[in-house]
Amino acid sequence: MSERPRPLVIAANWKMHKTAEDVGPFFQAFDREAPAPAGGIEVAFFPPFPLLSVVVGAVAHRADASTGGQDCHWEDEGPWTGEVSAPMIAATGAERVLIGHSERRLHFGETDERCRRKLRAALAAGLSPMLCVGETLEERDAGRARSVVLSQLSKAIDDLARAEYRRLSIAYEPVWAIGTGRTASPEDAQEMHEAIRGALASLATPELAAEIAVLYGGSVKPGNAADLLARPDVDGALVGGASLAPADFASILRAAHERPG
Ligand code: PGA
Repeated sequence: MSERPRPLVIAANWKMHKTAEDVGPFFQAFDREAPAPAGGIEVAFFPPFPLLSVVVGAVAHRADASTGGQDCHWEDEGPWTGEVSAPMIAATGAERVLIGHSERRLHFGETDERCRRKLRAALAAGLSPMLCVGETLEERDAGRARSVVLSQLSKAIDDLARAEYRRLSIAYEPVWAIGTGRTASPEDAQEMHEAIRGALASLATPELAAEIAVLYGGSVKPGNAADLLARPDVDGALVGGASLAPADFASILRAAHERPG
């Protein structure tokens, strides 16, 4: 495991689920079921904003765990009612933030340009951004999956500094696989992850590209996690539905621990 230049990351995207009173029972159960922290494997939690501080506290005892926001604004502060900025997220003790989740792109008008600005705001605030990219079913059927994904990637992360690339992770989430029960086949996922790694090598350097974790997301469950994680360029999972149940999420984390090689 220590041979890998990048960590495996198993991440929970709670979306708009759970309240503060759910957090204690969730982590009691998760701690019972989850494997003990091991080098090279990280677990991340992306709860709704009101739960950030609570989750930061709840995972403080786990050396492998971090917490992040599900989105951030591109400005640090200002007259933006309803928005949350990257420095505000960092001030809770959270270390990460999701940028450009497809539900933000689809329902909230998130453009590539906004993702680009948000990603830079996250880096400036000291957060580690996880950029989400992925094609719709129409785009896949039209043979445009790769060009769409690589365009989302290059528009958001060209011209970062070396140290900034080191704080980046990517989540490839085909939109047609999110919350639908349909998963990309491990072969399809590997093919896209390899393409993403190639693009990262051109945008940054091959050495930096090898250090960036590229997660897969879209209906990851205990039953399919091991197969997906067995692919060489699949460096973890961003899990929605199955991250709400502590036993299921712990079992996906276990699959990462048991990954051969
Ligand atoms: P899902 O969601 O696991 O419920 O498909 C994944 C995501 O949207 O991050």
